Parts: sequence; C-alpha cells; structure tokens
Amino acid sequence: MQRRALLLGTAIAGATVAAGVAGFAVSELLKAPEPIRTSDRGATGTPLIGGPFRLTNHMGVRMTEADLLGRLSLLYFGFTFCPDVCPTGLQTMADALDILGGAAADVTPVFITIDPERDTPAALAPFVKHFHERLVGLTGTAEEVAQVARSFRVYYRKAQLSADGSYLMDHSSVIYLMDRDFRFATHFTHESKPDQIAAAIRQRFTS
Ligand code: NI
Repeated sequence: MQRRALLLGTAIAGATVAAGVAGFAVSELLKAPEPIRTSDRGATGTPLIGGPFRLTNHMGVRMTEADLLGRLSLLYFGFTFCPDVCPTGLQTMADALDILGGAAADVTPVFITIDPERDTPAALAPFVKHFHERLVGLTGTAEEVAQVARSFRVYYRKAQLSADGSYLMDHSSVIYLMDRDFRFATHFTHESKPDQIAAAIRQRFTS
C-alpha cells in the first residue's frame, strides 16, 4: 500500500519527470493516439483500433482476444521498468475499478508490455499483482508484441541505453476501453480521472 501511494505521488509530473535515479534523461513519450479519420472506420462506423492477438499471460498461459470476450476490457501498454507514467496509468485503471465496486467484475484490466525482452511472465507476475489482483499481464515474442501494438497504434521504441545495459522505453500512454466483443469503445490517458473512466464503463452497463 505504501508503495502504491508513493508511485502515485511521484507520477504526476508526467513528461518532464526525469528518471534521475538511473541517470537517464527523460524518455517517456506522452502521445495521444493518432486522430481517427473517417477512412479508418469500418462499415459500421467503428474505429479500427485493436484486433486479434496471441500473447502469454503472467502465469505463463497463452491467451488470445477470445479470452476477453463477454466482458469489457481496460487495456494499457507499457513496461515494468517505467519510472512513472505506466504506474500512473495502471493506478488510474485500478482506482476506476475500485470506484465501480462489485460491478468491476464485468471488466478485465490488462497490461500489455512493449518490453518483452525484460518483461517475462515471471517479471510481470509481481508487477501486475501490485496494482490490482485481477490485472492480467501479457507478454510475447518481439513479433507478437509488435503485432498487437501495431493494431492498437501504440508507438514504442527502446531509448537511452546506459553503460550497464539498462534502458527505458519511449511509448504512447493510452488506456483503451474495449467492449464485450473486444471492439474499441473509447480511450483515456494515464492523466484521465478514475471517475471519468468509471462513468464511461457504467454507461456501457446500462446501454
Ligand atoms: Ni511507461
């Protein structure tokens, strides 16, 4: 609990927070998804964001989008070594679920790593548990991660390799709300208010 509060407290400054401890310059890229153009929409008018994936969860079990059908999903892409933005995004998701109370059971929170080199299932397990007991961590081969990131238009890039071989990742910071058919519903950022996310989810319970 103490760490949760600490992470949240240090996270707010966003893009200009330097990972000074490790001697890195800032490398978290705060980029909203590209605007959705009319031509990006399918026949039904639904934006073409997201799609099928094949990944491995933090328990080492293979998962696809089929495992998320029937419930809403909240998805966030990031990496476990992220000093501030990813923890804020995941804490925001967890807080939104807390606000929903029992109704949160109808939502699957998911963290997809864009750093599969370090974020093995074993590395993901304690990380996801720290934020929410039901948070699913997903990783895969470099190709599998590239494929799912591409379908969600997530940008990521290794940055700032230091002498000891450690590095940060530049990546876009978007929280995706997917519907029960794993179609894109709407999106938020790590700076969105948990109340706002909870309200958007509640709306989908009644519609
Ligand atoms: Ni991050």
